[in-house]
Amino acid sequence: MHAPFDLTMAEEGEIVAGEDGDGGLSNLFERNKVWAERKTRSDPSFFRRLVGQQTPRYFWIGCSDSRVPATEIVDLDPGEMFVHRNVANLASASDLSFSAALQFAVDVLQVRHVIVVGHYGCGGISAAISGRANGKIGCWLNPVRKLCCSLSHSSSNDVLDPNILCELNVVAQVEALVLNPTIGAAWARQADLTLHGWVYGIGDGLLRSVCDPVTPLGRSEAVSSPKAQTNDSALF
Ligand code: CO
Repeated sequence: MHAPFDLTMAEEGEIVAGEDGDGGLSNLFERNKVWAERKTRSDPSFFRRLVGQQTPRYFWIGCSDSRVPATEIVDLDPGEMFVHRNVANLASASDLSFSAALQFAVDVLQVRHVIVVGHYGCGGISAAISGRANGKIGCWLNPVRKLCCSLSHSSSNDVLDPNILCELNVVAQVEALVLNPTIGAAWARQADLTLHGWVYGIGDGLLRSVCDPVTPLGRSEAVSSPKAQTNDSALF
């Protein structure tokens, strides 16, 4: 079952992180201290190495959803993956924040893989289907809403499966990346850069690829349709 997108509920959910009077902040500092000590114990030079420079091979474009922590679900350490997250994992060239992150990842960090990662049970996707989101979030989700409407018009089904739209949205973002000037310039200078489209299952913790990887040689071909099965739709 898909919960409706509700900003008020999301905000309340964030505040329950701690039980002390400051809304959980001191709890976070304590947890951070324990984490840093644990890291240093297992690898005494860990933080000293990170001070020098980051050399991540991956740029992750994911959803802001708190259940999809990028580096944690692929078991990577700090320094190993550059991350940009927004609601419904959009890779819009008109978004200055995203475009700056992409440019830094590709031109400066010279990542080898750009990965768009959606997730089943995405509140942003559900909101786009329902059309109930308004204000800033409604405006932000407009591209997903348009994708949803275009699919509904070409389908005999009245209601689009959110998990199908989740996969198709990832494919649409990979297609947008193919046309992004930063990616085009990197490929023109023969950078070793591959685009990927994945979806994460909150119900089982696993990633699936939903389109073939896109390389400079294959960029003239259309991004293939989703191939992942959504048998776990009932989980959400
Ligand atoms: Co989401």
